[in-house]
Amino acid sequence: MPLVTTTEMFKKAYEGGYAIGAFNVNNMEIIQGIVEAAKEEKAPLILQVSAGARKYAKPVYLKKMVEAAIEDSGLPICLHLDHGDSFELCKDSIDGGFTSVMIDASHHAFEENIKITSEVVKYAHDRGVVVEAELGRLAGIEDAVNVSEKDAAFTDPDQVQEFVERTGVDSLAIAIGTSHGAYKFKPGTKPQLRFDILEEVGKRLPGFPIVLHGASSVPQEYVEIINKFGGNMPNAIGIPEEMLRKAASMAVCKINIDSDLRMAVTATLRQYFAEHPEHFDPRQYLGPAREAVKKIVKHKLVNVLGCNGKA
Ligand code: G3H
Ligand code: 13P
Ligand code: ZN
Repeated sequence: MPLVTTTEMFKKAYEGGYAIGAFNVNNMEIIQGIVEAAKEEKAPLILQVSAGARKYAKPVYLKKMVEAAIEDSGLPICLHLDHGDSFELCKDSIDGGFTSVMIDASHHAFEENIKITSEVVKYAHDRGVVVEAELGRLAGIEDAVNVSEKDAAFTDPDQVQEFVERTGVDSLAIAIGTSHGAYKFKPGTKPQLRFDILEEVGKRLPGFPIVLHGASSVPQEYVEIINKFGGNMPNAIGIPEEMLRKAASMAVCKINIDSDLRMAVTATLRQYFAEHPEHFDPRQYLGPAREAVKKIVKHKLVNVLGCNGKA
């Protein structure tokens, strides 16, 4: 089976009231951990590559490993560019064989966002590739994405219909209070998402797939292990899993998860090195890290996304 787009996946997910997991990939162990989990749970997958991941691993390596994952698993897998910030980056990914790209022009004004997104849609659709765009701005910091809280903005439901019609985009990421990274809500505060906005967007765009970025839950057990074995992560609250399940039962068809996987790897490595100071073969510690990725992804597929058995 070749790489697939998200068209069929999203149609079934929308109708079935579940979401597809979009997991960020940076190396072989992360890809294998995710794909092993999806294979055992018979789940369709989106594997996404950020600009930072491209720089770290080179897109061609990631693409070939994802193709190997398809051969090994027989699963429908979409290879997606995460947070493409320019036409050139999207074009390069499309030319390199990605089946889906995100053009993130959400930091531009509405008209400019439409202009840039439309250019990408034209180039992508002519080549059978699908496009995700973003309206509204999530807060949070990662390698190539850095938005302060004051620059974050919820999506305005009054804009979504015009945006989708004028750009021809295939899915839309919206801002309802999730944020990138491992520090989403301050300890002691009550996490809240603007489900009223999601509901209104769903009414304005019936049947249209919505995307939720910044959807890691930041499991407390990882924070504790990381800090117990020499790390120094401030306590923070992620997105409660029941909120993600609720979003998946509504118009959200794609849920992006990266930070939880990073934490799973880091917690495993910190514990491993503390307990096995004599080991120096990378397979000894990367193997358990891969297992940790598999475990958290299985949990997400079954208990959060509800896409198990849907491949
Ligand atoms: O939303 C961004 C993704 O989690 C990728 O993060 O830019 O650090 O690779 P990155
Ligand atoms: P998290 O940082 O919450 O995992 O979000 C990842 C993401 O949105 C990737 O685009
Ligand atoms: Zn994101």
